Amino acid sequence: MERRQFLTWVGVGMLASSLPFALAACSPGEEDNAAGESGTPASDPIAPLETTIDDQGFQALASREQLNMGPVFVASATVPVLIFEINGEMAALNPTCTHRGCTVALQENGTFLCPCHGAEFTADGTVTDGPAEAPLPAFEVKTEGDRILVKVGA
Ligand code: FES
Repeated sequence: MERRQFLTWVGVGMLASSLPFALAACSPGEEDNAAGESGTPASDPIAPLETTIDDQGFQALASREQLNMGPVFVASATVPVLIFEINGEMAALNPTCTHRGCTVALQENGTFLCPCHGAEFTADGTVTDGPAEAPLPAFEVKTEGDRILVKVGA
């Protein structure tokens, strides 16, 4: 085998061996996001106020005082929960986008926008614009004294 022929075969071999990596870098699961963000939450969730879940599935996740300072993002025992107020009513939902799992952001108008691919949701989690197709799971929420309880269990 001549030197030139050998180098051609080595080049083809290297190209073939690097092809899986090149394809993986362009796979649909690794699509760039519209906003240029990685989908990492803007702030990490805080620990729940209490760790126990009662027999009705409620867990005390935050205090009224915490909510008075703005939406509260909590890592409950089972799922992430965002507690917020809209039109004077307390609400809670899982802020994990149902498209590919980015954390949605609450907008001033009370809707949610996903920073990754632009999906939009109403305050009750209903999808108003894709690519997400499923709603954000909403939770029952209530207060007991200063404690805000969210039904995170069955
Ligand atoms: Fe794609 Fe939210 S992760 S729109």
